[in-house]
Amino acid sequence: MALSDGVFKVRLQAIEYGAPGINLYTFEALDGQPLAAYEPGAHVDVVMGPDLLRQYSLLWPATHPARYQIAVQLSEVGKGGSRKLHFESVVGAVYEMSQPRNHFPLVPSDDEFHLFAGGIGITPIISMYRQLKASGRRVSLYYWAGSAQHMLFHDQLCRERQDDVRLFHTRSSGAVPPRLKDVLTTLPPSAQLYCCGPQGMVDEFDRLTLDRPEANTHRERFSATTDALQPGDSFRVRLQRSGLTLTVPAELSLLQVCEAAGVDVAYSCEEGVCGACEVKVLAGQVEHRDTVLTPGQRQRSESMMICCSRGVGDSLVVDI
Ligand code: FES
Repeated sequence: MALSDGVFKVRLQAIEYGAPGINLYTFEALDGQPLAAYEPGAHVDVVMGPDLLRQYSLLWPATHPARYQIAVQLSEVGKGGSRKLHFESVVGAVYEMSQPRNHFPLVPSDDEFHLFAGGIGITPIISMYRQLKASGRRVSLYYWAGSAQHMLFHDQLCRERQDDVRLFHTRSSGAVPPRLKDVLTTLPPSAQLYCCGPQGMVDEFDRLTLDRPEANTHRERFSATTDALQPGDSFRVRLQRSGLTLTVPAELSLLQVCEAAGVDVAYSCEEGVCGACEVKVLAGQVEHRDTVLTPGQRQRSESMMICCSRGVGDSLVVDI
């Protein structure tokens, strides 16, 4: 595990109930000094234990300059980060955390914004909604969850509720709620669309927005693609700054081979979802396997995530 630069210690200051299976965790700087500023969509890495690092979206705005707050859903299928926080964390405990990174930023636009959240995906989306509302932009928020009880920030969203917040209960016994498709088909091509939620929801968002300008569609995924960590073909790579040429065997990643060669590289999730291991591609073809780059960025191939993406053939040159 190698966090990017700027790791620092924070104290768990409060644990609050958010919704069934979801708690809010507030961390504060040990010296009480302001923490680095961040924008909606940013996340931090939290060190949960040896070789256990998890990424969580920061809630915006911060309630205090020296505090960060995250929402964590208890997961039965993850690597154990959420279980550690839900069952083992105590207020006052000290954790290590990375500086905020943002691969899901709001892109400035004069057009209307439409924000789509499913389940715990509301965390970056409500942050975006708050900022867009505060700056007087035209924005609508659509939030799907099992029931009102399962909605994080349900009461707050109901209090603020205007025509621009729509809450859909997928397990309600009443009328069937609109689906993502029903909403998307009503929106003009110029609309700025942001989506965060379970994999199926984001996959559907991608399918339904294929015909829209790429610059208008933005998404964030929580989990790796199914092929992210599968073995691939062996390839050779030139590390331009280190002056090394390495062979990456089928069962290893470029990241693992760099580490074995003693080359210092930053990384975090090791499954292509956080963006910490992104490096510049100087030449060659890449098989992109991450969930961070947009289809256009993949096509331009100016960078790659070395924890999962692979070179094709022997022509890859990277800026390491
Ligand atoms: S370490 Fe997270 S994308 Fe590679």
